[in-house]
Amino acid sequence: MEIWLDTAKIEEIQEAISWGVITGVTTNPSLMMRAGTTDLKTNTRRIAELVGGPVSAEVISDDAQGMIAEAKDIVTWSSHVVIKIPITVEGLKAIKVVSEWPARVNATLVFSANQALLAAHAGATYVSPFVGRLDDAGHDGMEVVREIAAIFEMHDITTKIIAASMRHPRHVIEAALAGAHVATVPYKVLQSMIYHPLTDVGIQRFKADWEQALSSKR
Ligand code: E4P
Repeated sequence: MEIWLDTAKIEEIQEAISWGVITGVTTNPSLMMRAGTTDLKTNTRRIAELVGGPVSAEVISDDAQGMIAEAKDIVTWSSHVVIKIPITVEGLKAIKVVSEWPARVNATLVFSANQALLAAHAGATYVSPFVGRLDDAGHDGMEVVREIAAIFEMHDITTKIIAASMRHPRHVIEAALAGAHVATVPYKVLQSMIYHPLTDVGIQRFKADWEQALSSKR
């Protein structure tokens, strides 16, 4: 399972790239706002240059014609760009058109396996079930990922599953076990994936023992 970063903040992306673990980035209007930018084109291009892999940029129109017009512009920003389209009836119409250009579409705001199935049939390259937001609403978000993975596998559907709205490191493990192809994680979650107190304790112990070994030779 690939790890993508769920952020529009350049410093976080640069840092995560230096770790050698991320292969893509997802953004959305809220993440752009949190990154303090309204220049979506410049920021998306910069992210694409840095990551050299898929970068999702989201349309904000409500109607298919508006989404398609936005997508027409967004695809010119970078060959790495993936058009993020919400899974509504208008979104489906837009996914069908945009996927045929050809361009890659990430169907976003997916909260059920039915939505994922429809997005796949309309031509989406990716579907993004929002695990954390489902959990927040009292559902089992990961169960939706499991259902989508089982249905896609059973029916030879090649659309890839991006486990989104990851809230904690355990979500990432569960997404991998559930069959997601990608987990898109906030920088904070990525940081907590690497941290373990026993690793720190182990390093300290090895250092102390080595110091003791050296001093006994002196
Ligand atoms: C996915 O592509 C979205 O950008 C993201 O995962 C949403 O997560 P949130 O529920 O933490 O806003």
